[in-house]
Amino acid sequence: MPFRLLISLGLLCALLPLHHGAPGPDGSAPDPAHYSFSLTLIDALDTLLILGNVSEFQRVVEVLQDNVDFDIDVNASVFETNIRVVGGLLSAHLLSKKAGVEVEAGWPCSGPLLRMAEEAARKLLPVGNHIDVLTGKWVAQDAGIGAGVDSYFEYLVKGAILLQDKKLMAMFLEYNKAIRNYTRFDDWYLWVQMYKGTVSMPVFQSLEAYWPGLQSLIGDIDNAMRTFLNYYTVWKQFGGLPEFYNIPQGYTVEKREGYPLRPELIESAMYLYRATGDPTLLELGRDAVESIEKISKVECGFATIKDLRDHKLDNRMESFFLAETVKYLYLLFDPTNFIHNNGSTFDTVITPYGECILGAGGYIFNTEAHPIDPAALHCCQRLKEEQWEVEDLMREFYSLKRNRSKFQKKTMSSGPWEPPTRPGILLSPENHDQARERKRAKQKVPLLSCPSQPFTSKLALLGQVFLDSS
Ligand SMILES: *[C@@H]1O[C@H](CO)[C@@H](O)[C@H](O)[C@H]1NC(C)=O
Ligand SMILES: *[C@@H]1O[C@H](CO)[C@@H](O)[C@H](O)[C@H]1NC(C)=O
Ligand SMILES: *[C@@H]1O[C@H](CO)[C@@H](O)[C@H](O)[C@H]1NC(C)=O
Ligand SMILES: *[C@@H]1O[C@H](CO)[C@@H](O)[C@H](O)[C@H]1NC(C)=O
Ligand SMILES: *[C@@H]1O[C@H](CO)[C@@H](O)[C@H](O)[C@H]1NC(C)=O
Repeated sequence: MPFRLLISLGLLCALLPLHHGAPGPDGSAPDPAHYSFSLTLIDALDTLLILGNVSEFQRVVEVLQDNVDFDIDVNASVFETNIRVVGGLLSAHLLSKKAGVEVEAGWPCSGPLLRMAEEAARKLLPVGNHIDVLTGKWVAQDAGIGAGVDSYFEYLVKGAILLQDKKLMAMFLEYNKAIRNYTRFDDWYLWVQMYKGTVSMPVFQSLEAYWPGLQSLIGDIDNAMRTFLNYYTVWKQFGGLPEFYNIPQGYTVEKREGYPLRPELIESAMYLYRATGDPTLLELGRDAVESIEKISKVECGFATIKDLRDHKLDNRMESFFLAETVKYLYLLFDPTNFIHNNGSTFDTVITPYGECILGAGGYIFNTEAHPIDPAALHCCQRLKEEQWEVEDLMREFYSLKRNRSKFQKKTMSSGPWEPPTRPGILLSPENHDQARERKRAKQKVPLLSCPSQPFTSKLALLGQVFLDSS
């Protein structure tokens, strides 16, 4: 089946230098520590597992662990590095057990790929982004759903689901009302002047094609489908989505005629197909496979289409092609993929900190299509909270110990202070009540629950110090 061919070729070629030790473009051996090379590997890693290539996933994990060095001097974009490298490593970390990689005892709350993700993320922290905050004025006064704000809207919805945060969803729904009131015309979304509401650019940007997928995530299927069908007519006109499309003129916009094999329309097709089973969505998928193979396939990889009017190619393959486009296409056609799990199966993982229920489905994709299991996040986050709680109590204990020690030094100057034989008495009744009060306050029933060792049994481990007399 041509589709399988595309998949295997795309990945094979991206990883070819590693696989065969083939020379780089200048004849030298490829260096896995090379920033853009590592970036492609990291970005494509979870795609390997979703496509079912477990052995290759394992091999790439080893290569990354042995070779990647974030201590390099490059001008990396904070946003891109965050979504591709940090997101890719996090997702690979969470999927590594499924891929048969031997994981350490603390997984999913610890592991080598998680530590790499943290290292990469820390490198980004002190770096500023290109926001000019001096004037506090809007530089551009165009409002729309595309470039510049797309990931913001996407993360309001996905963040609300992943973090179970109602405030984020409320914010999105508020924006959504304004977007529908002022930017929507015949199920197209235009750019409008933000103070007057007049149309400033009657243009559809290919980046905006994520919107129907996002609408389907909030259950707005009918609107999503109508907008999707508008966008699909543009695809049919050109065999791809031009970066900008002038809606009233029905044609591409000058200097924006390219199609770098972006994933957004396919991503929306995947979400909508899960929601509706409408075969039109598979047609888009089939068209995409055809276009990609007919127009963009080159000897080793799939090239950016520089101009959809004459199908000229550019000498580059974007990293999101393997990370996103291939992944969403595959998921569109693979209804039994583990990513689509509806909760009917799951894995129970015993960690030193407690039991976690993982892999039950409901994966949230970051904006570079790296899936995150919300249950893993929840499981490890709970662990953190409980650690903090124990740390609080420890701090309290040591502060008491110091105060008592001071007191005893004052009253009896004989010998150093010895710990009491029954340490439980160190917690005065007041302190004890306060601690329990705090414990109760933190025990909100989580929406996504992941059973973990109860707080009291953890205290028992530290029982030399604390006695839970309840
Ligand atoms: C996994 O990927 C490697 C490299 O692309 C390829 O050689 C191998 O045949 C693939 N294995 C499977 C099972 O698809
Ligand atoms: C990064 O950008 C700065 C400012 O444009 C420049 O001075 C520096 O040489 C660049 N560093 C690298 C490694 O490209
Ligand atoms: C949207 O339009 C309706 C009706 O015209 C109006 O009542 C509502 O306040 C508008 N909402 C926003 C967020 O602008
Ligand atoms: C969930 O998925 C399983 C396996 O694919 C299927 O048998 C079952 O009918 C599904 N359940 C629901 C509620 O969709
Ligand atoms: C210990 O003493 C300090 C001042 O000497 C006081 O601020 C602190 O609250 C005391 N700690 C406890 C737990 O009583």
